[in-house]
Amino acid sequence: MTAASSADPGALYPDHLAALCRHADEALARGGFDHLLVPSGSLHYQLYDDRDYPYAVNPQFKYWLPLTRLPDSWLVYTPGRKPTLIYHQPFDYWHVVPQAPGGWWLEHFDVHVIRTPEQALPLLPGPAARCAILGEAQSALGEYIPNNPEAVVQYLEYRRSYKTPYELALMRQAQRLAVRGHRAAEAAFRDGAGEFDIHMAYCAAVGQDANDLPYGNIVGLNEHAAVLHYMDRDTSAPAQSRSFLIDAGASACGYASDITRTHARDRGGEFQAMIDAVDAVQQALGRAVRAGTDYKRLHLDAHLALMGVLKDFGVLRVSPEAALETGVSAAFFPHGLGHPIGLQVHDVAGFAADDRGGRIERPPGHPYLRMTRVLEPGMVVTIEPGIYFIDMLLEQVRRKGHGDSIDWDRVETFRPCGGIRIEDEVLCTDAEPENLTRPAFAEAA
Ligand code: GLY
Ligand code: MN
Ligand code: MN
Repeated sequence: MTAASSADPGALYPDHLAALCRHADEALARGGFDHLLVPSGSLHYQLYDDRDYPYAVNPQFKYWLPLTRLPDSWLVYTPGRKPTLIYHQPFDYWHVVPQAPGGWWLEHFDVHVIRTPEQALPLLPGPAARCAILGEAQSALGEYIPNNPEAVVQYLEYRRSYKTPYELALMRQAQRLAVRGHRAAEAAFRDGAGEFDIHMAYCAAVGQDANDLPYGNIVGLNEHAAVLHYMDRDTSAPAQSRSFLIDAGASACGYASDITRTHARDRGGEFQAMIDAVDAVQQALGRAVRAGTDYKRLHLDAHLALMGVLKDFGVLRVSPEAALETGVSAAFFPHGLGHPIGLQVHDVAGFAADDRGGRIERPPGHPYLRMTRVLEPGMVVTIEPGIYFIDMLLEQVRRKGHGDSIDWDRVETFRPCGGIRIEDEVLCTDAEPENLTRPAFAEAA
């Protein structure tokens, strides 16, 4: 285990909290407010039903506290004062309620335990008009209605681009958890399991399910690997499992990992060779995550490198540059190279030109890119190039008159395997980039 990976989040937390207080001071000054209020959010119910959706904590709340299952609670911050946590611990014999407050964060807060959501009201600072309240509409309590002031939100979201050592420690933990699942999932695939059972093997190894995972697992065998967000899970195994794409992460105190691997049944076959080629492209792009590099440029470089792979495998008949120019490359690689990640799997501020709400647009023709910024130290981004054989998109290539760019017999060779994606998280530093994912696999091996 490396020094970085064994770092104790608790020891790093005071500095993280101090940074947050400074950010909140600046955000409140910009917005002209006296207090920052962040409700943790509340349960959402299904229509005409008493079933709740999995609770998702307000990301602005878990920025402050490693508490992801504490609905109807409030973070209160006033510059110069110790932050307050209004901690909702209801009397309830139907459900498990949050435990009494405790943990590495406790000494840094004034904590008030409440038993009903309304008991928060007299504890909130006034007047309400002087409060920046960051949350969803249904968190409103009396006059305390979330106003999400633009200046405050923009500033705090922008700051989230630069991870503190505490955040990086938790993100490394999220990598290690997900890697356990990926290893169990690959073993299940090699044993011939179907998608549902592979998914269950993943969840069991990670110890997380829909309530905790940062996003729904993508577990696709064969042609299903060509559906970018394949969320169905066949309960029976196919007669023959040729290929397996798994895009699955884990959470650590609310921080996400987002990892994709693709496997071939036949380790000596052409599809495995193509996986290896995409893997090499992915690693090269990861090494290019350097301060001063424009992520938009990396995305276009990914197109060229992936088209180089398709050329080498005889799928593409034109140059990578020509394929990028005509839009043929987007038929094989129809998503963005990646996105910022942190408290949210698709984290905020990927388009931010500055901390006041300016926006950097995507390059024309690349509507799904989620990160358009120049990389800076402290940013964590995913690098997730892919090649897919998607009937709908290939048909569009033909219709647009570019059918000659492609060797269709070669497409037929790879189509039964669906597609390939390889995804890691990479930290931009002021020197070499740090791949957060690969060491977790190496440690586990
Ligand atoms: N798992 C969703 C994504 O890779 O962005
Ligand atoms: Mn991703
Ligand atoms: Mn992913």
